[in-house]
Amino acid sequence: MPYSENPFRQQFATRPTPEPCTVVIFGATGDLTHRKLVPALYSIAADGELPPTLKVVGFARRDKDDATFRSELEQANRKHSRAPHDDALWATFSESIHYHCSEFQDVDGFRALGKRLDAIDQERGSGNRLFYIASAPEFFDDILQNLRTSGLNKAPKDSWARVVVEKPFGTDLPSAQNLNSIVSKTFAEKDTFRIDHYLGKETAQNIMVLRFANAIFEPLWNNRYIDSVQITCAENLGMEGGRGGYYDKSGALRDMVQNHLLQLLSLVAMEPPTDLSADGVRDEKVKVIRSLRPVSKADVAEYVVRGQYVEGSVDGKTVPGYREEDRVNPESMTESYVALKIHVDTWRWEGVPFYVRMGKQLPKKATEISVHFRFPPSVLFNNIPMQGDVRGNVLVMRIQPDEGISLRMLSKIPGAALRMEPVKMDFSYSTSFGKASPEAYERLLLDAIAGDATLFARRDEVEQAWKFIDQIENAWHQNPTPPPMTTYPAGTWGPQEADDMLERDDRTWRRI
Ligand code: BG6
Repeated sequence: MPYSENPFRQQFATRPTPEPCTVVIFGATGDLTHRKLVPALYSIAADGELPPTLKVVGFARRDKDDATFRSELEQANRKHSRAPHDDALWATFSESIHYHCSEFQDVDGFRALGKRLDAIDQERGSGNRLFYIASAPEFFDDILQNLRTSGLNKAPKDSWARVVVEKPFGTDLPSAQNLNSIVSKTFAEKDTFRIDHYLGKETAQNIMVLRFANAIFEPLWNNRYIDSVQITCAENLGMEGGRGGYYDKSGALRDMVQNHLLQLLSLVAMEPPTDLSADGVRDEKVKVIRSLRPVSKADVAEYVVRGQYVEGSVDGKTVPGYREEDRVNPESMTESYVALKIHVDTWRWEGVPFYVRMGKQLPKKATEISVHFRFPPSVLFNNIPMQGDVRGNVLVMRIQPDEGISLRMLSKIPGAALRMEPVKMDFSYSTSFGKASPEAYERLLLDAIAGDATLFARRDEVEQAWKFIDQIENAWHQNPTPPPMTTYPAGTWGPQEADDMLERDDRTWRRI
């Protein structure tokens, strides 16, 4: 039998069908439920992909009835769902939504929830349950403990019970380990889905396809042909919506690098998995995270730049500096920007720096990965004047917005003289596929309902990532000579020191 027809390998190519279930959302009155989770479920319903008889039970502390909850969600859905809001569809869809009022610490509230779920199960004839923990992180422990005490973590006969845990998954390695041990007392690892919504973004999923399904890239994907890799996540927002309180305790490194950006990096740097199963893929990703070269206290200033925005102008509007933001300590030492030079100490990537940057209040919202190839021998064209590093080919994966992939290459400018100019081959999702990609949460919810954990972080991935991040945090906060907190005016591309970091290596950040 040819290797490619091996049924064992084939079975991973398609996702199992999502089964009917009840999705219980803890923290149902929060932002995430309104802006992401319910609009995602609604859009899946609009595409006709929602498992039949799916029910949603919102669990939260504020007292309200089903009708009020539904009408609040309706307002949010009008603004946030990918699928256009349709009154008739909403009327049917919203009948499946219920509200359950209880404190997270109140085990009786969980027991009462159990009774409601039993009644739903009886009506539907199946007892599958997906518990989605979308509350503030300080309640994670209580919720998990009460799921255990009330026995809700155990699935009814012939059914399943799974848990989805939102970020932040801990604030450092010890807290992540502690949370993992509470989760593992409550649910088996196969039933635990640690969400990282970047993995649900269509273009992030395309990284493996681009690398391993295209013969023109796969052989070049190593240190013999690649000079460096850049991962940029720029945001043109600050601390809107009262986020300052959370953010000031977190910072760019913990909020985005530990999870989203290290996940993207591991997809770019991983070895081909033996199959597309959840563990096949995650085994390879975790190896990358384990291979990240630690950053010592002595090296931190050379490898990591941290910064805060000061007053400036974004999209033509004057915005305050980070320390002036609501709920931010006026003497805060929390970074709203971070740039890192990361080495992946593996055979494939020896000597190839991965430059990673993330910043709030930058000029635009854009996330992209750019792979910078080495220059060809310059014997033939070395006398033709070119600016900067434009000689090199650059493959850009645009994660968002305007999802797509482009390849920069050199071309002769038409005419008698031999002159060269970089040109771009561009693939855009919207033109090639003619429709908007599903939202990350749509894909991830469907996967969790189908029991496919490939796009969710495994316990060891999360812990390894914290191990890497903790050293940098310690180097900042426990260093007798801590590196400076640099600044940048809001609306600019970050501190000069981040440019200097690349300049020392004779490179520059890609202009976005
Ligand atoms: C969240 C972070 O995980 O991701 C936010 O906590 C950030 O600070 C957000 O703004 C970005 O997500 P997206 O999908 O808009 O890039």
